[in-house]
Amino acid sequence: MSGGGDMGNIEVRRVGAAQVMRFNRPEKKNALTGEMYDALSDALEAGDSDGAVAAHIFLGSGSVFTAGNDIGEFLASSGGDQAALGAVLRFVRLLARVAKPMLAGVDGLAVGIGTTLLFHCDMVYASPTARFQTPFLDLGLVPEAASSLLMPARMGYARAFEMLVLGKAMDAAAMQSAGLINAIVPVEQLEARVMGVAAELARKPPAALTQARRLMRGDVEALSRRTDDEAAIFARQLQSSEAREAFQAFLEKRAPDFSKHRGS
Ligand code: COA
Repeated sequence: MSGGGDMGNIEVRRVGAAQVMRFNRPEKKNALTGEMYDALSDALEAGDSDGAVAAHIFLGSGSVFTAGNDIGEFLASSGGDQAALGAVLRFVRLLARVAKPMLAGVDGLAVGIGTTLLFHCDMVYASPTARFQTPFLDLGLVPEAASSLLMPARMGYARAFEMLVLGKAMDAAAMQSAGLINAIVPVEQLEARVMGVAAELARKPPAALTQARRLMRGDVEALSRRTDDEAAIFARQLQSSEAREAFQAFLEKRAPDFSKHRGS
């Protein structure tokens, strides 16, 4: 184990040739703030330009991967504070452009970006209790991080619609049969398994690895365009009264009431 640093609620460290980014905000189920997105983006950029790094790894902590974007920050963005939204945009744009392999080990809940970022990962491992959910619509929002393109393409339109529109949660077995997960691994072996794959990648010829990955991932420009299209609609929806009602309801621990928002 070498290198490393504590960047607030994102712990970044080197384990061999892997750069490990761990979500670490247990009191809020690892919900991601603007500061945390920036720490992740900084790490991805630094790792990509560091010859000693062969792969990036995302991990959670406290039996949770991440509860997704911090809903308090969504509410602040909805009131006009654009700082956190800028950090989200920087991160989702970067996901499409990272050059080195990205791996993830998912234990517990992976909500919102916690699931959509996995569709940018090259290999994903999950514990038997992992659960995946993308409840954008119920928050008055739309899919992000190119998930409106990647999820239908990877898992088929019907399953993607169930997740992205109905907000249905999927368990690890369902996501494995949908093609997102390489293997379901007992939780006590999960991180070692992901580290093992990173070590295997580190033994591959680096230029051939990067080029093979680039070829397999297809059209980066199409991914970037979709990310930007989604972001424009997402930013508009954030300002909507239905989204504000959803955020406030979550923070006040009550069910949302959209009856006043029904069209006229
Ligand atoms: N943003 C901000 N705070 C969050 C959060 C989020 N995305 N997810 C959880 N938290 C906070 C809760 O408000 C609570 O804070 P409090 O202790 O100060 O009241 C704390 O984390 C624990 O969460 P809680 O809801 O009590 O835990 P739970 O085990 O009952 O439920 C979840 C866990 C993840 C199912 C639930 O918190 C949830 O639905 N979160 C929102 C997920 C979401 O919609 N994310 C956005 C996707 S785009």
